[in-house]
Amino acid sequence: MAEAAVVEGVSKHFDAGRRVEALIAVDLVVKEAELVVLLGRSGAGKSTLLTLIGGLDRPDAGTIHVGGLKVDALRGGDLDRFRQRTVGWAFQTAGLLPLLTALENVWLPLALLGQADGIAIGEARAVLRAVGLEDRADHRAYELSGGEQHRVALARALVKAPLLLLADEPTAQLDSESAREIAMLIRRAADSGTAVLFATHDRAVAEFADRVLVIEDGRVRESG
Ligand SMILES: Nc1ncnc2c1ncn2[C@@H]1O[C@H](COP(=O)(O)OP(=O)(O)OP(=O)(O)O)[C@@H](O)[C@H]1O
Ligand SMILES: [Mg+2]
Repeated sequence: MAEAAVVEGVSKHFDAGRRVEALIAVDLVVKEAELVVLLGRSGAGKSTLLTLIGGLDRPDAGTIHVGGLKVDALRGGDLDRFRQRTVGWAFQTAGLLPLLTALENVWLPLALLGQADGIAIGEARAVLRAVGLEDRADHRAYELSGGEQHRVALARALVKAPLLLLADEPTAQLDSESAREIAMLIRRAADSGTAVLFATHDRAVAEFADRVLVIEDGRVRESG
């Protein structure tokens, strides 16, 4: 399988009174249809790494390629397009628009990309079906349970068919059964071709991974 994301020698520090080396010479590869779990404690550097790969911040050193694009060199409209189209995000909080329906929340990214309503609604419905929530399509987001909201958020991330899904502890606030459901849905997304980098502190998620990397004090290594 082709390499979806390639990170080489990436370092990042923060200076908020005290200098923090958040990432130190990180190398990693995520291939298409591969689910890589990035396991690490609080403060290990997981979110920092995902943020750089998703083009929301830039590394101090090193290079990041996603889908053949050199992310750390993208600027302006190219960077906007990369953020909008190439990468999907799943976060610890679902972050839905509460007064919109489940369907509208999933449809919105396609509308913002300028996709015609008829096609976009059909695609949004199909992805909601894939996360098992077709029967909740017309419920407003605030009427859904926490686990259901996370499934809608995942559908919203996947509806654009991103090359790479960046999942930043999407199961952290869920009970173990809902967490498993989300992890299984992410597994299924990988099986249908999406590259996934899944950051978590929950070892149970490793069961769903093709490969587990451990991040500790800003350094990434293979597990075991
Ligand atoms: N914007 C920032 N300014 C200053 N320090 C930061 C900033 N972002 C992150 N850090 C520091 O960098 C280190 C890594 O943070 P990061 O958020 O990547 O950890 P994490 O592994 O995602 O942790 P958690 O599991 O708690 O989300 C931490 O020591 C953190 O305090
Ligand atoms: Mg984090």
